[in-house]
Amino acid sequence: MKNILVTGGAGFIGSAFVRHMVEKYPHYTIIVLDKLTYAGNTDNLLPVHDEPNYRFERGDIADAVTVKRVLEHYQVDAIVNFAAESHVDRSIMSSHAFLDTDVIGVYVLLEQARALGITRFHQVSTDEVYGWLAEGDFKETDTLQPNNPYSAAKAGGEMMVRAYHVTHGMYTTITRGSNTYGPYQYPEKMMPLFITEAIDDRPLPVYGDGKQVRDWLHVDDHARAIDLVLHVGAAGEVYNVGGENEQHNIDVTHRLLQLLGKPKTLIRHVADRPGHDRRYAVDCTKIRALGWQRNDDFESLLAQTVAWYQRNEWWWRKIKTGEYLEFYKQQYAQRLADAQA
Ligand code: NAD
Ligand code: TYD
Repeated sequence: MKNILVTGGAGFIGSAFVRHMVEKYPHYTIIVLDKLTYAGNTDNLLPVHDEPNYRFERGDIADAVTVKRVLEHYQVDAIVNFAAESHVDRSIMSSHAFLDTDVIGVYVLLEQARALGITRFHQVSTDEVYGWLAEGDFKETDTLQPNNPYSAAKAGGEMMVRAYHVTHGMYTTITRGSNTYGPYQYPEKMMPLFITEAIDDRPLPVYGDGKQVRDWLHVDDHARAIDLVLHVGAAGEVYNVGGENEQHNIDVTHRLLQLLGKPKTLIRHVADRPGHDRRYAVDCTKIRALGWQRNDDFESLLAQTVAWYQRNEWWWRKIKTGEYLEFYKQQYAQRLADAQA
């Protein structure tokens, strides 16, 4: 492997992976292909901007002409696909873009790679493809039962990856990561939304009773897991990547407020997300056997994350304008008004 194409590399996890790879492997060339949707942000890549082994191309993974040109131009040896529409609430409002990118986009990447004889393909997926469970944890062999349009589209993308391995013999791997947190996360997701809203003394919209459970994984641990699977993962295999760190949403919310020195009175219990998965948990035995370990110090990673958003208002204040405010209004205005009534 020499030339690695990272699609969706201007997003939250993709950019963490790019920053990690550019530094760790100076003899690789890391090429980002990103459409720069509302969630894509070249500021996330500023730390590598001047590195000699980093390249950037703007383009859509669902556009075969662009994908073919980039694969040929850079003589790509391996593709790591992060590109996706990634927010569950947006998929409930409107699902089409999720199918375009998370299903058709994956197909276009696979097909263009196959046509050019590029066999190494890694798909970044999510634990949400399993659906939720009240007890125990999901193994890689469990049935996929996605419950919302986002996770259904991600499951569809995975099925194409599987088919290209079985039918066309491509060397594919898939990781199913759990809820990821850390710097540079678009402030529509729970953690950065709550941190940045609380900094401004604005209400925190907790869906329903807040007793839903998420398994929090730090973005750097997630990036290292993908690096490992890319290098030593077996062809056709799927690997869970979890934080092994289950938390109720309401407890995380309390902890964030404590770290920020803000009062609990900012919390509003608002109308729940339809189809809201109650609990996620994955078994990580398989990726541990490859040598991966997570950082288990959630307390200090959370404190570092909060401190990053406190220090980097330049990064998130300019995001929370324009289209963002439209989304915020549509998602939260009525919910918050009803909660106060
Ligand atoms: P993100 O929304 O922050 O970033 C997505 C990136 O993909 C953006 O840069 C965007 O511009 C780009 N993109 C979107 N559509 C594109 C297209 N058609 N062509 C090219 N680029 C396109 O997402 P994220 O949170 O970094 O998630 C990255 C991947 O990890 C996704 O595949 C997601 O399903 C998966 N994942 C995310 C989490 C999480 O907690 N955030 C957990 C597990 C798995
Ligand atoms: P989110 O960050 O959207 O990730 P996911 O839906 O992929 O798990 O949400 C994390 C949890 O926080 C999830 O249970 C939904 C909840 N949540 C809220 O309670 N309020 C919010 O405003 C958001 C965005 C999420």
